[in-house]
Amino acid sequence: MEPIHITDVSPRDGLQNQQIHLDTAAKLQLIRLLAAAGVRSVEATSFVSPKTVPQMADAAELVPQLRTALPALRTSVLVPNLKGLERAHAAGAQEIAVVLSATETMNRKNINMGLDQAIDVSVQTLAAAHALGLRTRAYVAVAFDCPFEGETPLDRVVALARCMHEAGAGEIVIADTIGSGSPGQVKERIGALADALPVAQLAVHLHDTRGMGVANAWAALEAGVRRFDASVGGIGGCPFAPGAAGNLATEDLVLMAERSGFATGISQDGLLGAIDFAEARLQRPLGGRAIQWLRRQ
Ligand code: HMG
Ligand code: MG
Repeated sequence: MEPIHITDVSPRDGLQNQQIHLDTAAKLQLIRLLAAAGVRSVEATSFVSPKTVPQMADAAELVPQLRTALPALRTSVLVPNLKGLERAHAAGAQEIAVVLSATETMNRKNINMGLDQAIDVSVQTLAAAHALGLRTRAYVAVAFDCPFEGETPLDRVVALARCMHEAGAGEIVIADTIGSGSPGQVKERIGALADALPVAQLAVHLHDTRGMGVANAWAALEAGVRRFDASVGGIGGCPFAPGAAGNLATEDLVLMAERSGFATGISQDGLLGAIDFAEARLQRPLGGRAIQWLRRQ
């Protein structure tokens, strides 16, 4: 079976918007359970303003604990600027992700910069990360629709993705921030992106607001993408993007991919342990579209 690579973003995207804030020990336990299920790559946290996202305020404590507890786990952290990179590096992070949105308003709402400044800061942060020997990812957020500006022009998405590629980002993560995309749009957009840059470096980061996450992931697979972000239990959402529901659930993606002839290395039963834990801690029912079937025994 052909392998696909899944980065579980639940410790970052999944927890950044929760009313109940998990402490560092609980985050570590969630990541341990993910690793036990076979997850080999996580986005563990973000080095952002603790005033803006208090749920991620313990990033500098979590990263070194994680490196000690799970040294083989590939661990990325989100950084919005050079200060975030500096903090991430000091904590021992080995991979960072910058976050560039494809519209002026989304950048202002998310990182308090306009589009031009966000491009400059992302390029500078990637260069500084490479100088430190770190691996890098670059998000291109609101790559389908922006909650403030409507449909995002495809040529701008392609231009920004190329810019991040030229800046040396190891992975360009095309994000459907508010989960508004359809399989037809994924086919069109990923097709255009794959014509402009190496498809092996493209990842997709889908939110499942309208129930099309799995169908969109399939469209991305058919377009040649083999790298996916997902979040166990389907938790997630950007606090600064109104209407952003949870991410495509890792368990739904694993089920779809494995049933379609792709190897994920992840055990569905193992993921149930992480979902049960997150449910208990967040005190609400979690799970993607397949959760009842997965719990059938
Ligand atoms: P700002 O207020 O414009 O920053 O915030 P500033 O440069 O004017 O500095 C203000 C204060 O923040 C200063 O401290 C800085 O030192 C500090 P003070 O002097 O007042 O004590 N500061 C920082 N502290 C910690 N870490 C930092 C940092 N930078 C400055 N990195 C800033 C700008 C970018 C910091 C803020 O807007 C921010 O933290 N934004 C992050 C928002 C966020 O986390 N959004 C969610 C993640 S993105 C997402 O979910 C989308 C994604 O999933 C893909 C998708 O689905 O589309 C990735
Ligand atoms: Mg997201």
